[in-house]
Formats: sequence, structure tokens, C-alpha cells
Amino acid sequence: MRIVCLISGGGTNLQALIDWQANDLLGDAKIVAVISNAAAAPGLGVANNAAIPTGTVSHDDFPNRSAFDHALIKLINTHEPDLVVLAGFMRILTGDFVAHYDGRLINIHPSLLPKYKGLNTHRRALEAGDNYAGATVHWVTSELDAGDIIRQVEVPIMREDTEETLNARVLDAEYTLYPSVIRDLSLGLIKC
Ligand code: GAR
Repeated sequence: MRIVCLISGGGTNLQALIDWQANDLLGDAKIVAVISNAAAAPGLGVANNAAIPTGTVSHDDFPNRSAFDHALIKLINTHEPDLVVLAGFMRILTGDFVAHYDGRLINIHPSLLPKYKGLNTHRRALEAGDNYAGATVHWVTSELDAGDIIRQVEVPIMREDTEETLNARVLDAEYTLYPSVIRDLSLGLIKC
């Protein structure tokens, strides 16, 4: 299963995927390319360190979302992916993009969806006084963070938590959740 990862920032989830792959834990999945919408994304360095081909399609270079998404599709498709993995990719994708990869596009989101779609998930969970936060891997559809849920993991919220401490605990859970879902998809244990 050829995987293209899309990133925008730190790439710590990408690092987790690379670590699982390096330890032969990623099933039949192989990360064949990492593409960013920001040339300065530290995640590109993570990919370079693992000798994974990288590319950048900078959203600033395009007049609108549609033109950007079509350039992104063109570059992604040069790598012939079976699965496109959003790993901290912080751009909203057009319906055209989502339709093009229907059934081949997944995302990880830092909340227990359907709670807290969009941004500032940890702040909202803390403000609501929730006892649990978490992360969700889901299929991507044209409605933001609303596609079918593949798997979720809960993490407890501690009384003394700040956004930063909660973010760190959720990220830590993501580093097992995302690779395990991708492994199971590649082994046919989850249906595409
Ligand atoms: C992760 O927490 C991921 O769930 C979140 O961004 C972070 C990326 O971290 N994604 C979203 O909020 C998507 N809407 P990373 O770049 O270090 O992997």
C-alpha cells in the first residue's frame, strides 16, 4: 500500500509512522512521499532524514483553493498512492480533491469526534470541563471532520491540565493510533 503523507507543520505524527515502518510494524504500508503546503514545515526535514522523497505545493502560489488543490493532486498522483494520509495538514480541501481520493483519504483529528470539529479542540474540551479528550482517525469527506470514524482513542483530562499538557498527552496517543490504523488498512483488517 503506497502512502503519500500531507503535512503542514511539525511532522511528529509522520515521525511515528516512519518509526513504525523502520521497525517493520506498518504492515504492507510504505510511505513513498511527503508533501507539504509550506516549504518551511519542519516535517519535511523529518522525511529527508528518513530518505523519503518530499515535495512542496505552496498555497501562497495559487489564486484560489481550487487551483491549489489541482496542483496538489497532480503532484500527489506522480507517486501513485493507494492511500493519502493527512498528518497535521492544516488546509481545508475542496470537494473536487476529496472526490478524487474518495475512499483513499484519511485524517487524524485531535478530539473525540463528533465533538470539537475544527480548531482549538483542547481549549474547548478544557473549557467544557470534559473528563476525557482524545484523537480520531476518520475518512475525509467534503464536510470538515465529519467523515466516518475509523478508530478513536481516549485520554484522560487531569485537573491541572493546560492546553499544552493536554496536547502533549493527546499527541502521544496519536503516535500509536495513526500507525496502527494504517497497518490495519494495509493488511485489509479495515475495509477501504
Ligand atoms: C496533531 O495533533 C493532529 O491531530 C492535528 O495537528 C497535529 C499535527 O501534529 N491535526 C489537526 O488538527 C487537523 N485538523 P504533527 O504535525 O506534529 O504531526
